[in-house]
Amino acid sequence: MTPQADPSWVVLKFGGTSVSSRANWLNIVAIVRDRMAHGQRVLLVHSAVSGITDRLDKLLAAAVAGAFEEALLAIETRHRQLVQELAITWSAELERQFADLRAIAGTLTRVGDVSDRVRARVMASGELIATEMGSRFLRAQGIDVSWADARSMLQAAQRHSATERASVLSATCEFAPDQALINRLNALNSVVITQGFIAGDADGNTVLLGRGGSDTSAAYLAAKINAASLEIWTDVPGMFSANPRSTPSARQLLKLTYDEAQEIATAGAKVLHPRCILPARQYQIPLHVFATQAPQLGGTLITTEPGSDAAQVKAVCIKKGVTLVSLDSPGMWHQVGFLADAFQIFKTHGMSVDLVSTSETNVTVSLDPQANSLHSSALRSLSEELEQLCGVRIIGPCASVSLVGRNIRGILHQLGDALALFEEQKIYLVSQAANDLNFTFVVDEDQGDRLVEQLHELLVRPVRSDAVLGPNWEQLHAAGKPALPPVPAWWLSKRTELLAALGSRDSAYVYDGATISARAAALRSLQSVSRVLYAMKANPNLGVLQRVVDAGLGLECVSRGEVERALTVPGMTAERILFTPNFAPRAEYAWALANNIRLTIDNLYALRAWPDLLRGREIFVRIDPGQGRGHHQHVRTGGAYSKFGIPVEEYAALIRAASELQLRITGLHAHVGSGVFDVASWAETGALLAELTQRLPDVRVIDVGGGLGVPDREGHSSFDLVSLDARLSVVRESLRTAGMNVDLWLEPGRFVVAESAVLLARVTQTKSKGDVRYVGVATGMNSLIRSALYGAHHDIVNLTRVDTPASETVNVVGPICESADYLGHDRLLPPSEEGDVLLIATAGAYGRAMSSNYNLRAPAEELFI
Ligand code: LLP
Repeated sequence: MTPQADPSWVVLKFGGTSVSSRANWLNIVAIVRDRMAHGQRVLLVHSAVSGITDRLDKLLAAAVAGAFEEALLAIETRHRQLVQELAITWSAELERQFADLRAIAGTLTRVGDVSDRVRARVMASGELIATEMGSRFLRAQGIDVSWADARSMLQAAQRHSATERASVLSATCEFAPDQALINRLNALNSVVITQGFIAGDADGNTVLLGRGGSDTSAAYLAAKINAASLEIWTDVPGMFSANPRSTPSARQLLKLTYDEAQEIATAGAKVLHPRCILPARQYQIPLHVFATQAPQLGGTLITTEPGSDAAQVKAVCIKKGVTLVSLDSPGMWHQVGFLADAFQIFKTHGMSVDLVSTSETNVTVSLDPQANSLHSSALRSLSEELEQLCGVRIIGPCASVSLVGRNIRGILHQLGDALALFEEQKIYLVSQAANDLNFTFVVDEDQGDRLVEQLHELLVRPVRSDAVLGPNWEQLHAAGKPALPPVPAWWLSKRTELLAALGSRDSAYVYDGATISARAAALRSLQSVSRVLYAMKANPNLGVLQRVVDAGLGLECVSRGEVERALTVPGMTAERILFTPNFAPRAEYAWALANNIRLTIDNLYALRAWPDLLRGREIFVRIDPGQGRGHHQHVRTGGAYSKFGIPVEEYAALIRAASELQLRITGLHAHVGSGVFDVASWAETGALLAELTQRLPDVRVIDVGGGLGVPDREGHSSFDLVSLDARLSVVRESLRTAGMNVDLWLEPGRFVVAESAVLLARVTQTKSKGDVRYVGVATGMNSLIRSALYGAHHDIVNLTRVDTPASETVNVVGPICESADYLGHDRLLPPSEEGDVLLIATAGAYGRAMSSNYNLRAPAEELFI
């Protein structure tokens, strides 16, 4: 008999971002109060503060390497900041937790190694610390709350097939209804708060449920206490038909069945952890997904009830980092046991196979990076053993792109147009699941995002709102808001000046000089960096450069043309220039050296092929730290697939070559990508370069690159310069402590100029095709190519009709003969008419700088007001 929970419990799970700010915690309080007012008992499960699990991981690595103070301090500082923000006290329990961490880290330093058990204990402290803080905050708000240790509620299951490592770091738990636990929680008579991600094993040790395991914790607990519902609160309002961050036309999915949600989660959507669905499904517990920062936007409800029976694609999902193994054997036709033999080899190598396609002479399987460790050595030994059986090819990195929905076979005929998209693609594997929920293509990884975009555009975006497909991301964000976003952008109060400046023109970039000066001044005020260079590729307009130079910034240039222009700016000197060419011809390097321009080399080729040019010179060297970051694949500049920098593996060769040429390397440089918000990125780059500097006595400068993100829409937070300064100060201090006389430099482009300009463009024509409405403007990708090239978002408003409510969802397109010629998809605007002026915001960086005369249409000219 199923035990009865009386009264009814609801399990609320909050993720890392949900518990990392006061604003979110106030929403949590309101949600808890609401559930209590409805007579429900609340079990609140939450994660570690965002970013902490990663930092604990780094702490372990640092402790083993022998220097953990900086890593530990960063963790403590983050928690102290939040304690302050929440206005709670730093309790004795928090003190004890940090003392424990320090003691363990000390031991690891002595031992020089970390066991899985100790790893689990250290990683668990993120949740233990966060829930201690969470319970204090709820109490401070007058909510009666008991803190419970998840390790006493969730027991790791014995898994016979699991390795020792998996049973400690990626455990699964029993989740059959548990009357004793229900009685225990009922007796507490309060809200109960506990940790996600962690559980106990039979011997009382801490185990982890694997990355993203907090959702699973909540689902296990919901099943065990027979909860009336399970609510997962995260940073997006529900599951979407595609990743809304890269596809703004992604639709909110209002209702899904457990098996659809499972497919979407498994096919790559990150909102719900795939493992959390099974317990809810097994005990038919309704599962909701909501956004903590915006509870009013509703979310997704997952039950056994289909929202609709129609054959329909509900989501287009992508999974990257997939590796394919293709097995060829002409002899396998009608051969008994070939597959069994092959799969046995995957099993002995601990590889879990995801998709399979077979023909008479070939079997191709995919390996999911989340389920497997796909290091080249692991793949090599797998492939060596398979080669004894058949021909083997390893293909990757690939992306699997999946169409998910019920009765997917029923929409095969609609796929005709969609399949045309694959005309120029190499499709390695197609698989259609027998459960009729999923149709998957595997293609080269760098083609994946584009395919998702196009498939979504064809199959999901045009469908009218129904019981399943709700509003899109744009509409959700615009809901209830006035036509103008309430950001205090400079242009909000300058409507008249803007229209006057445009005059009778069809289009123009309009700049606000004060914004440039203000951003430059903010950068100059950073204490940790001694020099800021403006990356002039973002915008080389002379008016812009003059303001930047007047504010005391140097200039980072990537071509002889840029250096020559930099030198024309009054007040600029060669000393304040850094020239960072990439794959430029030899003559450009020769010119820079002859003119005493500080030069960065980013390829050993230059040292080997041009020894006479470089012998005895002073140079900077650009290092590739191995991993890129940024808002789009095209702007990530780290790793083997990026053409920039000298990989760390070639460092020894660099030092040899430099000493042969008596080169003086006076600066180390790295830039990992553009549009990055995580301040840890620069601190990590700084720490890596600091380490490398130890072998180069002449280095006086560490340049940690640019890439500072700028929010592309209203409501998104600004870049946290204060935290960046704090993090870089730690790096600088450690350089000082190590006795190194080395300065830190920064070289942002976008941050200085992005918000300083808007693009104004006059409406030329409007059109409707079926449900799709177009507003055409006088300039498009010839002026601003960022939407077409990166799917970048720029807020758009109708400047002529700021007081008219936005009531139409339109695509804003330009006059260029390319279907990619758009400035915004699915924008909510007031009805626009010929001659109206649309304002495209945040257009100062990489706007005019990347413009062209394509179609012989001159790009918008530039004006200052
Ligand atoms: N330093 C180096 C070596 C760079 O390559 C770049 C940008 C920067 C600094 C400045 O990055 P920022 O602070 O502006 O993010 N067109 C793309 C951005 C390409 C960035 C190229 N390199 C976009 O519109 O998003």
